[in-house]
Amino acid sequence: MAKPRVVVTRKLPEAVETRMMELFDTQLNQSDTPMNRAALKAAFAEADAVVPTVTDAIDADVIAAAGAKLKILANFGVGVNHIDLAAAQSRGITVTNTPDVLTEDTADLAMALVLMTPRRLSEGERLVRSGAWTGWTPTQHLGQRINGKRLGIIGMGRIGMALARRAKGFGLAVHYHNRRPVPPAVEAELEVTYWQSLDQMLAHMDILSINCPLTPETRHLLDAARLKRLPKHAVIVNTSRGPIIDEAALAEALKAGDIAGAGLDVYEEEPKVHPALLPLENVVLLPHLGSATLEGRIAMGEKVIVNLRTFCDGHKPPDRVLPDAAAKPK
Ligand code: DGY
Repeated sequence: MAKPRVVVTRKLPEAVETRMMELFDTQLNQSDTPMNRAALKAAFAEADAVVPTVTDAIDADVIAAAGAKLKILANFGVGVNHIDLAAAQSRGITVTNTPDVLTEDTADLAMALVLMTPRRLSEGERLVRSGAWTGWTPTQHLGQRINGKRLGIIGMGRIGMALARRAKGFGLAVHYHNRRPVPPAVEAELEVTYWQSLDQMLAHMDILSINCPLTPETRHLLDAARLKRLPKHAVIVNTSRGPIIDEAALAEALKAGDIAGAGLDVYEEEPKVHPALLPLENVVLLPHLGSATLEGRIAMGEKVIVNLRTFCDGHKPPDRVLPDAAAKPK
């Protein structure tokens, strides 16, 4: 039997690409140039399966170009906000993602930003590199202590929980807002406090971390009005998706001193960063590195392969986003 035709939109770790070439009739993207709309449409028209990533805008128009053979989008990544799920569903296309294997890496990165931002670590690094550091002084570069502060986590899914475990070890009191509280046994294990009202929680937090998925409900969840609810010394960390924060309002709040800092790994229009954020010293800017470990990316590739193989063998793939569920928690 002919091998299924699989189009991979970006370069993947070598071990993953090698295995995919063995198993499928695979078209790789060795140059790693993001595929434009025309190239995506052409891939959708001819493939049995497409392996997209967060950098591909798989909207209704691209999905409309799908040929009769295209039955599965095996996303390389856990977030699926770049795929129009309603359009995929109406075409009967299965969508899978890669949960679990990037949880610990992403929580590590969130924790790094929880430490870096209040302690002003990237400012310090820039100072040393600039050659302008003149030596230790008792008052230079004072940040805020971490121990004993309150961390508010928005979204207590897998990554939120993994962050809560880390934060406990750093002496942070962990609070959270979620659509529903986690089971009491999990709350007790993590020692976390639930706030049903996000607005009320914000006013009491020293550090805020965003760990919920991007959905129509969470787009601009942190708008200008909500940012104003935070205390002036508060810092915000975002390792989820940029559009959950209104970036222009964030830049305004930072410039006006309404909040003390931000640690960002994700942006509203990646790879563009809002120009008002770039000159601000009190902002840590990372290039979407949450899951960027070799081990994590290989494990994500292995998940893609398992999802594709199971599907091609006529079974339900393990990490289904569609047809079973709406977007899973990150
Ligand atoms: C994810 O898996 O969602 C990461 O953010 C990369 O897309």
